Amino acid sequence: MDLQGQHVVVLGGTSGIGLATATAAARRGATVTVASSRSTSVDKALAVLPAGATGRLADLGRPGEVRALFDDLGEIDHLVYTAGEPLDLMPVATLDLAAARDFFTLRYFGALSAVQAARVRRSITLTTGVAKDRPGAGWAVAASICGAVQALTKALAVELAPVRVNAVSPGVVRSPLWSRMGEDERERMYRDIGGHIPAGRVGEVEDIAEAYLFCMTQSFATGTVITVDGGSVLA
Ligand SMILES: NC(=O)c1ccc[n+]([C@@H]2O[C@H](COP(=O)([O-])OP(=O)(O)OC[C@H]3O[C@@H](n4cnc5c(N)ncnc54)[C@H](OP(=O)(O)O)[C@@H]3O)[C@@H](O)[C@H]2O)c1
Repeated sequence: MDLQGQHVVVLGGTSGIGLATATAAARRGATVTVASSRSTSVDKALAVLPAGATGRLADLGRPGEVRALFDDLGEIDHLVYTAGEPLDLMPVATLDLAAARDFFTLRYFGALSAVQAARVRRSITLTTGVAKDRPGAGWAVAASICGAVQALTKALAVELAPVRVNAVSPGVVRSPLWSRMGEDERERMYRDIGGHIPAGRVGEVEDIAEAYLFCMTQSFATGTVITVDGGSVLA
């Protein structure tokens, strides 16, 4: 129970990777708070999280809501940021610059505003992705967001020390992030990608949660980006 007595706040913790991380942290003894923008997701998450977890509503794209959330929470031990929305492919020739800018709101500026507002005692773990390492055509904006979060992680590790700041970089993971796709198309995508990477399958949210747990529980890693992608950057 290496997180016993520690308060872990997972922004985006009502679904997918964040929910798996919140669950794993609670099982290791943490007091867990999850937050996201829809009350239905908060309620669904609280129904499956271990007893004692609490949920908050906040649109993390709105700095005022982020500030109010942390004013209310006070000092916390660990901040985890997994909030994100599906990114559309945006070929440069046709992309809408306003939409491209908008995509930075939640994943980059949301994370930055949370880091600014939170009073964190021990660690911060952000979320990037392998799009920055091995982008396909149409991924210029997604790759840029991931690259920006990676750079932010390293800069924060220097500026906020002794608080440790790390990031997790998942490959494709079976999660509700892909729920806009039809089931057949989604399963085909998981099979196709899984069949072409060394691990032979796409990730499960629990695979990725382990990396966030590592970032919270060990005491020496800071400024590190942990890739958990089944080897997809090598494929
Ligand atoms: N799944 C993958 O294959 C994959 C791969 C690489 C990187 N990632 C990254 O990992 C992160 C987590 O992904 P996931 O698969 O766990 O996605 P997910 O299951 O869709 O979870 C996303 C979470 O973000 C919350 N959220 C969305 N908009 C929000 C807003 N405006 N304010 C507050 N919360 C908001 C959602 O809750 P509400 O809807 O209630 O707001 C939900 O809790 C994302 O940044 C994603 O880009 C995922």
